[in-house]
Amino acid sequence: MSDAASWDERYGSGGFAFGAAPNRYLEAQAARLQPGMRALAIGDGEGRNGVWLAEHRLSVTSVDWSATGLAKASALANARGVRIQTVVADLVTWNWPVEAFDLVAWIFVHLPPADRAVVVARAAAALAPGGLLVLEGFTAAQEGRRSGGPRDAELLWSAALVREGFAGLELLECLEGTVLLDEGPKHQGHAEIVRALLRKR
Ligand SMILES: C[S@@+](CC[C@H](N)C(=O)[O-])C[C@H]1O[C@@H](n2cnc3c(N)ncnc32)[C@H](O)[C@@H]1O
Repeated sequence: MSDAASWDERYGSGGFAFGAAPNRYLEAQAARLQPGMRALAIGDGEGRNGVWLAEHRLSVTSVDWSATGLAKASALANARGVRIQTVVADLVTWNWPVEAFDLVAWIFVHLPPADRAVVVARAAAALAPGGLLVLEGFTAAQEGRRSGGPRDAELLWSAALVREGFAGLELLECLEGTVLLDEGPKHQGHAEIVRALLRKR
């Protein structure tokens, strides 16, 4: 699954691949959220995270290269009585706003190393001072498990990659290890992940 067309195909099959409830680590940040904060949900897919943020009265922009995913995200927002702004774009070539967001949600977005470097830099620059970045991704230890994640090991995350990539941000939390995922049909069972919370100074 490494291009927009294949994600469109996956999202076109009905249901919510990763559920309609938010990612658990993002959900754990609820106490840090305030109405009116500007949130950017990157690789937001079918919108479970962006919509959840909008339900907390944040102003949400969801970016993904899957038009099918974002159409479902808009429908989910409508069904929940909230609004999100959707942008169909490749994160690598998107014209990212600078210092425009109080929160960036980077949940299960796995990119080739060169693309990851670009998107890490853009995401850090997109944060306003004091803004938070919440990240969850699979690590190399996930190989062989059937609870989700890319097959290509180069796309996987590690705590070291987080520390190195986001060296310009303040690291508030960084956890690497095993969790029991229960996030839709595609993320079920024990999984090896990194969870990180960072803040722009
Ligand atoms: C594993 S899904 C996670 C979706 C969502 N964040 C969630 O947790 O439910 C990864 C998402 O990243 C998107 N994605 C991957 N590479 C991308 C890129 N270069 N530009 C935009 N979206 C991308 C895919 O289309 C997909 O929706």
